[in-house]
Amino acid sequence: MKITVIGTGYVGLVSGTCLAEVGNDVLCLDLDPEKIRILEEGGIPIYEPGLQEMVKRNVAAGRLRFTTSIEQAAHHGTIQFIAVGTPPDEDGSADMKYVLSAARNIGRLMTDYKVVVDKSTVPVGTADLVRETIAAELKLRGIDVPYSVVSNPEFLKEGAAVEDFMRPDRIVVGADDEQSILLMRALYAPFQRNRERLIVTDVRSAELTKYAANAMLATRISFMNELANLAEKLGADIEMVRQGIGSDPRIGYHFLYPGCGYGGSCFPKDVKALIKTAADKADIELKVLTAVEEANDAQKHVLTGKITAHFGELRGKHFALWGLAFKPNTDDMRDAPSRTLVADLLAAGATVTAYDPVAMHEAQRIFGDEPRLRYGDSPMACLSDADALVIVTEWKEFRSPDFDAIKAKLKSPVIFDGRNLYDPKLVRGMGMTYLPIGR
Ligand SMILES: NC(=O)c1ccc[n+]([C@@H]2O[C@H](COP(=O)([O-])OP(=O)(O)OC[C@H]3O[C@@H](n4cnc5c(N)ncnc54)[C@H](O)[C@@H]3O)[C@@H](O)[C@H]2O)c1
Repeated sequence: MKITVIGTGYVGLVSGTCLAEVGNDVLCLDLDPEKIRILEEGGIPIYEPGLQEMVKRNVAAGRLRFTTSIEQAAHHGTIQFIAVGTPPDEDGSADMKYVLSAARNIGRLMTDYKVVVDKSTVPVGTADLVRETIAAELKLRGIDVPYSVVSNPEFLKEGAAVEDFMRPDRIVVGADDEQSILLMRALYAPFQRNRERLIVTDVRSAELTKYAANAMLATRISFMNELANLAEKLGADIEMVRQGIGSDPRIGYHFLYPGCGYGGSCFPKDVKALIKTAADKADIELKVLTAVEEANDAQKHVLTGKITAHFGELRGKHFALWGLAFKPNTDDMRDAPSRTLVADLLAAGATVTAYDPVAMHEAQRIFGDEPRLRYGDSPMACLSDADALVIVTEWKEFRSPDFDAIKAKLKSPVIFDGRNLYDPKLVRGMGMTYLPIGR
């Protein structure tokens, strides 16, 4: 099939590449010429395990191409995926300007039947808006070209995006005409050969499903974070509680890890957007989700609270920071808890040396030339002259460090662990002060 993917970011690049991998003819459009330049020169603009090799293979096979030409993109694909960003607007609602601009471009240039697929996470009612936007452009041109609009939200996880796309748990397709449903079934058949994973719904239910999924996961995290803070005060160990409740199949172990708050490009903005949609479009206050968001905002300061409680005055103190990305296996730092922590520490007059396996260039972009934030070449290199080690991202390489070496390098043997990586008995047994979450 001929496919255009509009927006070549985390979702667009992975989707386009995986669709090419199974034999489709894919053209990825982005308006950012730098991204397209990097891709055309054989690089990839993001860190995502397994993606670079797959991009190379499909480019070499002639099935995957990149462009900044809106015209070329509009003419190429019968299926036009919209995978542009939907960042939060000032009031928390999803900013739809990129989605609608993509829709306008399709309407302005299309000459034959198109299935326009919303893959971006978009509020309920967006498919209608996309349909109207295209209709308005066709009307301006005085022509009538058939098209369908489908909602096909994406559930991939950064860090495991290729695997998630190639072996999805489910593929949600919201559509109301048979022709586009048939086409989507054929498009996704190669990704579900051992059992049917396609869930066909009406368009609005598909749009809401994506927000419901992220809202549920965020709720589990905030719930566990609150319980962790409680466990700490009551002298209980949240890790034992987690195992005790996770073993109940109605609850399960996934997404029950307490920590220093959720971040990333999805949960924070999607929770906000759903609260806003409910208030504006349905006059409903989503009380649970409002609390989820408040709890998370507070949790992002939990490490600062522990550090301040331990040291008192932070002016002149120096901290080693392990982990900048919002989670392991990605360089994404959008809404990452590390950003809150670094901002808190710098504001309190402290200095920081940070290490992350892949996100340091992103941190440099975000924090610019901040002289009080430096970067280490390795986890151990950050520790020199530091008053304590603070862990924010659970990268594998942090899981089994040389505690003797840590103790020897730090000015005082203190670890603040925002991800509960270590056995408290073991670390404390080595004569270190260990301050995890809820233990
Ligand atoms: N990142 C994730 O893990 C993830 C997972 C599921 C769903 N989503 C959703 O997918 C959407 C995209 O997210 P992302 O993380 O890939 O965003 P991103 O910011 O990485 O990529 C979006 C890209 O779209 C480009 N763009 C913007 N307007 C354009 C236009 N009119 N034409 C062509 N290109 C345009 C931008 O230059 C950018 O490269 C969002 O709605 C997000 O919520 C993201």
